[in-house]
Amino acid sequence: MTAMITITINGQKVSAPPGSTVLQAARLASIDIPTLCDHPALASIGACRMCLVEVKGQRTLQPACTFPVTEGMEVQTESPLVVEARRFILDLLFSERNHYCMYCEMSGDCELQKLGYRYGLDHWVYPTYTQRFPVDATRTHFLMDHNRCILCRRCARACSGLVANHTLGVRHRGARSMINADMDVPFGQSSCVSCGTCLQVCPTGALVDKRSAFMGRDVQTEHTKSTCSWCSLGCGMDIVTRGGYVLRVDGDWDAPVNAGLLCQAGRFDPLYDERERVTKPLVREGGKLTEVDWDKAVQAAVNGIKGVSVEGLGVLTSTNATNEALYLLDQVFHKGLGVTNTGLLNEVAARVPARAPGSLEDIAKADLIVVAGADPTEELPVASFLIKRAVDKGARLVVVGDKDNGLAPFAYLSLDAADVGRAVDLAERASHPVIVYGADVSSKTAKALKKLDEKATFVELQLGFNTRAAVAFGLNNGFDPSVAKTLYVLVGEQNWDGAAVMGKLNKEAFVVVQASYESPLTERADVVLPMAIWSERAGSLTNTEGRIQRVQKAAEPKGESKPDWEILSLLAGKMGQKPATSFDEISARAAQAIRPS
Ligand code: SF4
Ligand code: SF4
Ligand code: SF4
Ligand code: FES
Repeated sequence: MTAMITITINGQKVSAPPGSTVLQAARLASIDIPTLCDHPALASIGACRMCLVEVKGQRTLQPACTFPVTEGMEVQTESPLVVEARRFILDLLFSERNHYCMYCEMSGDCELQKLGYRYGLDHWVYPTYTQRFPVDATRTHFLMDHNRCILCRRCARACSGLVANHTLGVRHRGARSMINADMDVPFGQSSCVSCGTCLQVCPTGALVDKRSAFMGRDVQTEHTKSTCSWCSLGCGMDIVTRGGYVLRVDGDWDAPVNAGLLCQAGRFDPLYDERERVTKPLVREGGKLTEVDWDKAVQAAVNGIKGVSVEGLGVLTSTNATNEALYLLDQVFHKGLGVTNTGLLNEVAARVPARAPGSLEDIAKADLIVVAGADPTEELPVASFLIKRAVDKGARLVVVGDKDNGLAPFAYLSLDAADVGRAVDLAERASHPVIVYGADVSSKTAKALKKLDEKATFVELQLGFNTRAAVAFGLNNGFDPSVAKTLYVLVGEQNWDGAAVMGKLNKEAFVVVQASYESPLTERADVVLPMAIWSERAGSLTNTEGRIQRVQKAAEPKGESKPDWEILSLLAGKMGQKPATSFDEISARAAQAIRPS
């Protein structure tokens, strides 16, 4: 075990691992040192000087966020000299641009404003508002008000160091310095991928979320940790609500999959969904969909299911469903009724049976990454950030596949699928090759990659959402619409109109749809069971690595809609089946079936 280093902070003995900064050591001992440019997820740059401390024997004050600890060091964090220096820095920051807090959306939640209160700033010492800076509102989801910017560069460091997108930089010098995008183009025309990481790390009101602006201060909001349901990565997120209304979604810094990062699909898109919700159970009566109560709707669904032989039953499911719902689909239709005609709404990646199935963490350790049959920039964007980050740190990237790939511009080599052998040769010569593969891997490519079984780590990127769980329940065994006389579709929130499947379905077929939004599919249905959406349900999801993660309810289901698993419980009950007695039991059994211990 490495020996710890002991220092004294404000007379208190503190131990920290070698290589720690004074700030890290202070945090270990819960001693608060104010910061502005520092952020725990970012490399420190010592730019703002807010964390200045007095270190015995040093000629000048030192920034705690970059100053390393040494044995026996003595530090003062709030001495008169330190406080005077911090006040001076705050006076400069407040006079530099427009920090008229009462008109700022971040007022109450701003790190700069909090420090103003902490150090008793009650007037401007220096002239202010001497320069006017522009506001750039060209991005769809958030805007940049340069007047509130303190040039801490957290945004630029997040964009480069965490997202590896390198959109943001600083132009000019001194008082005219400004955060800019690419070669100084409007943000909306830049290479920004709208992941919102810069927005999440900004300490002031310079980067502002358009949708949740002025909707509530942090003390007025609730935070619910959950899991993103929009791709099979399953990023950890923090749903911010006020009075049951979802204001915004932040990345969860503690989540093992994404460590705070989200993509546009996870952070913004679900909040901008303008499709009409289905809020009441509906049954077709006299040719028209009519509102009924839950009991009547479930009975109508059961009549349709029981009215045909097992060979005439078909089940289709979105992989957006929770583990619990997929377990119940399996219990009700496979185990309970013996239905075999079941399918998924998305493709499934053919697995390369690997000796060492890896996880996303392995990407950071690779010296060579082969991405085959997958475009993470489109399908699982946070995975593409992790790959680009590894490339920034020196890993070589080889992209294999016949389609355009968003990672190709970052690749050392882009190969057609037929040339996969060259990627295999390179991987054989690498020290830590990682193969990242997806649903477009052909059996020929899979066979070629399999040669690397002894050498490489394999990371599977599944399409869809909870695909691993759906596959574990055997729900993807080749659905044939032409033989279905009654079709049960759990479409949930997925934007799937079903035209191709419905075109092959018998016109007389009875269709039951479990859905959150109106669509051509719900218009065709005989029974519509309204389903709660991502923020309104509890349960679990299995990500592409096989990690089972919790989904938490942050808002009440709209209208009479119910969570996916609860609807299937009602259906099971009406059919006289009893797969489990409680949510906890369903959840535990689902987990056991997905990942047998
Ligand atoms: S949203 Fe993401 S990609 Fe765009 S500038 Fe911010 S960190 Fe960079
Ligand atoms: S926009 Fe925000 S994060 Fe970026 S430099 Fe300005 S204050 Fe810092
Ligand atoms: S990468 Fe996938 S799981 Fe992560 S935020 Fe984006 S859509 Fe959600
Ligand atoms: S927080 Fe240390 S210099 Fe900014």
